[in-house]
Amino acid sequence: MSSAALPASHPLVDGRTAAAPLVAALRRQKPSHRPVWFMRQAGRSLPEYMEARAGTSMLEACLTPGLASEITLQPVRRYGVDAAIFFSDIVVPMRIAGVPVDIQPGVGPVFARPIRSMADIEALPDLGVTGDRGSFDTGLDAVREAVKLTVEELETTPLIGFAGAPFTLAAYMVDGRPSRDHLGARELMHTAPDVWEALVRWTSKAAGLFLRAQVLAGASAVQLFDSWAGSLSEADYETHCAGGSRAALTAVADLDVPRIHFAANAGHLLDALGAAGATALGVDYRMPLDAAARVTGGAFALQGNIDPAMLSAPVATLMRHVQDVLDRGSEAPGHVVNLGHGMPPHADPEVVKRIVDLVHERG
Ligand code: CP3
Repeated sequence: MSSAALPASHPLVDGRTAAAPLVAALRRQKPSHRPVWFMRQAGRSLPEYMEARAGTSMLEACLTPGLASEITLQPVRRYGVDAAIFFSDIVVPMRIAGVPVDIQPGVGPVFARPIRSMADIEALPDLGVTGDRGSFDTGLDAVREAVKLTVEELETTPLIGFAGAPFTLAAYMVDGRPSRDHLGARELMHTAPDVWEALVRWTSKAAGLFLRAQVLAGASAVQLFDSWAGSLSEADYETHCAGGSRAALTAVADLDVPRIHFAANAGHLLDALGAAGATALGVDYRMPLDAAARVTGGAFALQGNIDPAMLSAPVATLMRHVQDVLDRGSEAPGHVVNLGHGMPPHADPEVVKRIVDLVHERG
């Protein structure tokens, strides 16, 4: 696959990030050191984030380019991590499209009009087509601008773009808010498979266009957050969800950026997640990386999987755990150190910094 479709000024093309440890590890080449970044590295655990965000709602912050860029850069400055993750949210494309959604502090995304019927789907805004200048595409300009500002500052550190996977997005849109077992979405896929399929088509298109805008504006890798897919059986994932994730990842496949696919609690889905068009797999903390490398037959770079709970453990216990992750991760054809899920809001930045230093020394 060629990277001809990326602009000449893209950091992978002009060389800024082409040899970055993150990109090399994700491409299963030999990085100069083991790269590390953290899901939710920007956010409430950083005092500078609390200060920057004060008085601005989460989604407003995401759509204010200078602020989103500043927040994206904060953990890179503080920790020296090997990648920035774009400060945004999986529901940002829904907000841009005009779907009534908010992120309530301490709760998460809340949709004012949950999706239940085909009429609800027909009422969803039109997303236009790639390359047009419809209102969705125009709305993505705030995202493009934030990515551009960020990439200019990052120089040789790659920016990771992301989107929510169609199942995770649909789980929120059907239940209307976070739920424990995603029962509403799982019920809909069986009671009204045509409605489900139409919803997955819409969410995968939104996710694909969101990813593509970030990559063309300068992101050097993408991650699809299939966070809640672990609540599905392999059969249901294959039948009702994998196609949507494949469509979202395919939207950037011609751009030749590494594509990470992450799901929590999804050891049983690793093969399916890989087959959906990923080049690397995020592994949560429940499955050891050497086991994940065996299951996937060395076909994918792996990312993970420090247990977020270990951040609160005595330092010696935590460091032993990080060393174990490094040892097991070396069984994979490429390894990017990360947490097995998001950074807890009460994580101590001093502890996080020690992890980065240890990975850089030993990895
Ligand atoms: O540092 C990063 O990882 C980058 C930014 C990022 C955010 N959300 C910022 C955010 C990313 C990659 C996400 C993805 C996301 N959002 C996911 C997938 C990742 C995962 O955790 O599995 C999901 C499920 C969401 C939906 C969502 N948004 C939730 C559940 C919440 C938490 C609500 C709360 O207050 O507890 C959010 C809000 C959110 N997204 C915050 C941040 C920094 C907190 C906002 C705040 O502190 O005001």
